[in-house]
Amino acid sequence: MCGIVGYTGKNSALTPVLDGLRRLEYRGYDSAGIALATQVGKPLYVEKQAGKLKNLEEALVKKSDSNSGIGHTRWATHGGPTDTNAHPHLDNEGKLALIHNGIIENYVELRQQLEKLGHKFKSETDTESVVHLLSDARKDNNGDLAAAMRQVCKQLKGSFTLLAIHSDNPSHIVGARRNSPLVVGVGEGENFLASDVAAFIAHTKIALELGQDQVVEITPNSVVVTDLSGQIVKAKEYEISWDVSAAERGGFTHFMLKEIYEQPKAIADTLIGRLNGLNLKLNFKKFEKIVIIACGTAYNAGLVGKYAIEKWAQIPVDVELASEYRYREPSLNKKTLVIAISQSGETMDTLMALRYAKSKGATILSVCNTNGSTIGRESDEVLYTHAGPEIAVASTKAFATQLIAMYLIGLEIGRKLKKLSNNEIKEITEQLTQLPAKVEQILETVEPLRELTRKFKSAESVLFLGRHVGYPTALEGALKLKELAYMHAEGFAGGELKHGPIALIDNGTPVVAIMPTSSGILAEKMASNIQEVKARGAVVIVISDSEFTGADHLIRIPEANQLLQPVLSVVPLQVIAYEMAVARGNDVDQPRNLAKSVTVE
Ligand code: M6R
Repeated sequence: MCGIVGYTGKNSALTPVLDGLRRLEYRGYDSAGIALATQVGKPLYVEKQAGKLKNLEEALVKKSDSNSGIGHTRWATHGGPTDTNAHPHLDNEGKLALIHNGIIENYVELRQQLEKLGHKFKSETDTESVVHLLSDARKDNNGDLAAAMRQVCKQLKGSFTLLAIHSDNPSHIVGARRNSPLVVGVGEGENFLASDVAAFIAHTKIALELGQDQVVEITPNSVVVTDLSGQIVKAKEYEISWDVSAAERGGFTHFMLKEIYEQPKAIADTLIGRLNGLNLKLNFKKFEKIVIIACGTAYNAGLVGKYAIEKWAQIPVDVELASEYRYREPSLNKKTLVIAISQSGETMDTLMALRYAKSKGATILSVCNTNGSTIGRESDEVLYTHAGPEIAVASTKAFATQLIAMYLIGLEIGRKLKKLSNNEIKEITEQLTQLPAKVEQILETVEPLRELTRKFKSAESVLFLGRHVGYPTALEGALKLKELAYMHAEGFAGGELKHGPIALIDNGTPVVAIMPTSSGILAEKMASNIQEVKARGAVVIVISDSEFTGADHLIRIPEANQLLQPVLSVVPLQVIAYEMAVARGNDVDQPRNLAKSVTVE
């Protein structure tokens, strides 16, 4: 939900700001803009354009440049994706520019007050109120932009990352954050601010984490962080563990395809050093139940986690949509372990559910892929997945590693509570170790599936069926197809078909059935479900680890322990969604209406 970059330093700002926006475009891509401080005390140079970043780049033909600037790529909330609503927003003199990620909840009353004071508004955004407020606060604070930012933050309700620049003091950029991400990149003679380290990884690997309600001021040679009272705060420094090539396509046509192929490594990296135990300071004996909270793909990983944790650790597990969780009165207390799963670590729905659970005394263990993210920092313990940066909006390798994290947690609790025998632990760990090679094997044989998928590109709807852990896998397959191919797709538990969904089957409806034989009796039941849909005209693509003559098309995957099968069976589903999106001419990495990190509720 909006990408934000700021640069000040010895070099020209335009290139790092545009490069940063390119790497952050996954966060939102309905408009983009920049502000550069080209002349001291004069109006800033501002360019903003609706549409993708390339529109902005084309508009920048008469390149102005300076040594400091800010840039923004937007996912619209308040006000449509127009040139005027694009960020940056300016004060009435055009000397102060502001960019924002998040939602200012009290913007209407602020706007009314500011209009009474004579401020002229141009856009329909919530953000524009903040720039006018900041302009007045700066005057109140004798031109001190950081002090003005602290004053303004106290007046704002909602979530925000803000960056501001004023042409009177062009080499200073001031940022602030509450409930939205902002990291500092510390360079030599240059410093950066961004929503995500990907924006500046080509320039520096040293980053600073900013806490809630902190204000940061950067110049080419200094970084000062304060809280809202103006007290200096020591920000936590860390080194980014991946390098710039991880955030590039590296010869693949799309990031999503690259990320599908990176899964064997991501799984191996997430397993490494953890099979003999996780270094978590949690007393699992005290928990009476576990609640998993997550959204979208992460929620589907949580559903698989429920099967594994309940089986191996024998603790009841509920899986909850984070966006729904805090709006009822869920039963949780000090004896509840809440597991929050989030690739970005900044999904607002998940963060809010986490805070709610914390306020009720629950212990929070999060599973995140982004170092230093808000969800990780606000948890009692974090288990990081090591998927590396996931740029495509559709989650693939992050899902695979979230599944691995679920297995590791199930194994850990089962081991700590002595619910698993040594032999069982040995069998599970051996099977986990084999997963990277098995995923590799699937990826070596997906070409015919890509060809097959193209045959269904005009289908009106595609159904996915599975039982046991095959059911959440079916949900994930359907979610991928919806978001990438813009096709109607549904995932069903095989046994539910006859309770309604079978009415959707028509002549030629493609049905993808997940049917590993490790599911034993359930594989037989799936075979019956397949007959039922075939009898009503469906064309059935079966994903299985053995020969099955009842399929119209059979996709073979390797055998694995039943609980681990989703790591394998999801791979063909990802390929189907990818290929369908390509065949239908869709934007694979940046599907319409979506953004990678959903930092608004
Ligand atoms: O960053 P998170 O894991 O918290 O994101 C949760 C969902 O928004 C995300 O998984 C979304 O459903 C994916 N884009 C689906 O591919």
